[in-house]
Amino acid sequence: MARAKQGETSDQGATAGQPKPAVLIVHGPNLNLLGTREPEIYGHTTLADIDRQAVALGRELGIFVETFQSNSEGAIVDRIQSARGQIDLLIINPAAYTHTSVAIRDVISAVEVPTIEVHLSNVYKREPFRHHSTIADIAEARLMGFGAEGYLLALRAAATMIAAKKAGTR
Ligand code: DQA
Repeated sequence: MARAKQGETSDQGATAGQPKPAVLIVHGPNLNLLGTREPEIYGHTTLADIDRQAVALGRELGIFVETFQSNSEGAIVDRIQSARGQIDLLIINPAAYTHTSVAIRDVISAVEVPTIEVHLSNVYKREPFRHHSTIADIAEARLMGFGAEGYLLALRAAATMIAAKKAGTR
């Protein structure tokens, strides 16, 4: 597993010789403002809190969790490219890029890693332009409307999916 880069939190935590499954959580643009950004829609939990909780849950589940946020589409593409062969599953909230980014769709297809799409809000209760996702049809699963809790639900689902894949039942 690659070491955490700048702007990332991580919990290496693996015992030598027993590599843990790894999950990368990617947050798209403006999610660094969580806590103060339209709290009536996105809640009061900060991104740092979400990442801390995800790393702590990962520790409980025996999963190495890395997190990454960027406001830049290219940086998100670069980070996912560098995860190729390094992670078992990607959890991504592409935020506004959900609705526009062919580049993020293409990199997810390119690295061939199972992906869970997460949104804090239920995008279908919102403006029509939020109803389209460029990654909906290549994601293994999609989860939305649970606020910050959605990332933790996705991580629990990821643990189940990774275990099933290892057991050959998925
Ligand atoms: C979002 C929904 C997007 O439409 C929006 O642009 C975001 C956040 C969500 O988590 O609900 O930035 O992905």
